[in-house]
Amino acid sequence: MELTPVIKAATDLWSSLRPTSPTRKYKLPPMLPGGVPVLGHALEMGKDPIALIQRGRDMFGDIFSMRLPGRPTVVMTGHRAQEKYFRLRDTEVDQREVYRFTVPVFGEGIAYDAEPEIMREQLGFFHAALRESRLRTYVAGFVAEAEDYFGKWGDEGVVNMLEVGNELTIYTSSRSLLGEEFRTHLSAEFAALYHDLEAGMNTLSLFAPRFPSPSHIRRDRARVKLGEMLGGIVEERRRKGTQSEDFMQTLLDATYKDGRELSPEEITGLLLTIMFAGHHTSGVTFAWTAVNIARHPHIAASLIAEQESVLGDRTDMTLEDVRSMNYLEWTIKECLRMYPPLIMLMRKSLVDLDFGGYDIPAGTMMMASPSVGQRIPSIFADPHRFDPERYGPGREEDKRSPYGHIAFGGGRHRCMGIVFAQLQLRALWSHLLRNFEFELADPPSSYVIDYSNIIAGPHPPCRVRYRRKPAKVTGRGTRVRSAS
Ligand code: HEM
Repeated sequence: MELTPVIKAATDLWSSLRPTSPTRKYKLPPMLPGGVPVLGHALEMGKDPIALIQRGRDMFGDIFSMRLPGRPTVVMTGHRAQEKYFRLRDTEVDQREVYRFTVPVFGEGIAYDAEPEIMREQLGFFHAALRESRLRTYVAGFVAEAEDYFGKWGDEGVVNMLEVGNELTIYTSSRSLLGEEFRTHLSAEFAALYHDLEAGMNTLSLFAPRFPSPSHIRRDRARVKLGEMLGGIVEERRRKGTQSEDFMQTLLDATYKDGRELSPEEITGLLLTIMFAGHHTSGVTFAWTAVNIARHPHIAASLIAEQESVLGDRTDMTLEDVRSMNYLEWTIKECLRMYPPLIMLMRKSLVDLDFGGYDIPAGTMMMASPSVGQRIPSIFADPHRFDPERYGPGREEDKRSPYGHIAFGGGRHRCMGIVFAQLQLRALWSHLLRNFEFELADPPSSYVIDYSNIIAGPHPPCRVRYRRKPAKVTGRGTRVRSAS
């Protein structure tokens, strides 16, 4: 990657966010020592962002400042600071500047590029897609995808769970959100174009989203083709009046408050927005679940016992079944606590704010960090230990503060896909637990966090060894291979 244009673009961006009241005397949060001229703490951040934020917390507690190119950023961790952060209103903080890098992918006038009122209406359409009645259909889709995908695995082998997670979640999400015809006929072409879109959202894009780098050029070409592909389906469905149980249908049926229908470009943009929001985040969580199940045989044993008690020899699975898998829920929640896919969340303050006796001037970048915030011992006992039972009866450590477990964010912009993501992960893992056994394929120390992507997952290749369980013989002498 060429660094000079990145540094210049970064400096321009941060400089454009100068506080609006330069004459007022502010009591700013303490500044983290270290860093270098111009880039501030950016190099340390590039190497290990979590160690940097933890260093600040260890020195100063809930609030401190650090320098990213050109300007200070305030970092807020700890449940009181997190509560303050997530309860801020849209009139007090802005996300649009921070998520500017998504505009070439989602499209102009979509989500973070729309006027605040339109963005609110667009996010409202997502609610309709993720409502209870739709979830029932989605669960059936998750189960069908799992049966199809894992049915092709051999009796034993070694797989890269990061690849498996990303592939599977793109199948499940495209089926539920883009629609059956898309999943059946256009998967391969879609996957290739989607890959180019994804590769075009990188560190450079954070600072210079329109810089004509090779990956950005490929991203823009893929976006045009995807627009044509999705737009074609939208127009065909409108012409034929087809009805389906997917998010595309929700958008086809939706209207803005002024009665206007969504254009094919808007539908395409919103479909890509929701796909991106839920794809890698779920994909890396799937992979961490594999690593932790393979690493902790006693947890695997409890999970298998739960599968037996919820499903027994049944091969069908309902929304209610998936919802009653508590131990699986805690295990995934624990993966998200220790290995949140979004390690830093950002906002820009629009007005002067304060916390803990310090001022946060308008125009300051403000950061919360699920990675550091979810490993604070006053909320999560022995926080570096993987322990799903901390969420169980009698302990319920996640209930100590509504802003303690923040892998899905918090407040008004809390993730809208929480239930979708949880059901998807539980449905996939239910199938795997009933049909396979797992162990790590590499030394435990090689499963570390990879910070090189915007969404942090296990460092590739994340290899896990699987072995298919023998088919069960039931009381009636029938051989049952559960769910496949
Ligand atoms: C394990 C999986 C997931 C994780 C860890 C995750 C995490 C997050 C986080 C941290 C935010 C808040 C961002 C911020 O405050 O700046 C967020 C927002 C959002 N997520 Fe997720 N997400 C996941 C899956 C999904 C899925 C599957 C969907 C949709 C199907 C989805 C849709 C959204 C949307 C629409 C928002 C924006 C909400 C708003 O701004 O009001 N997410 N997610």
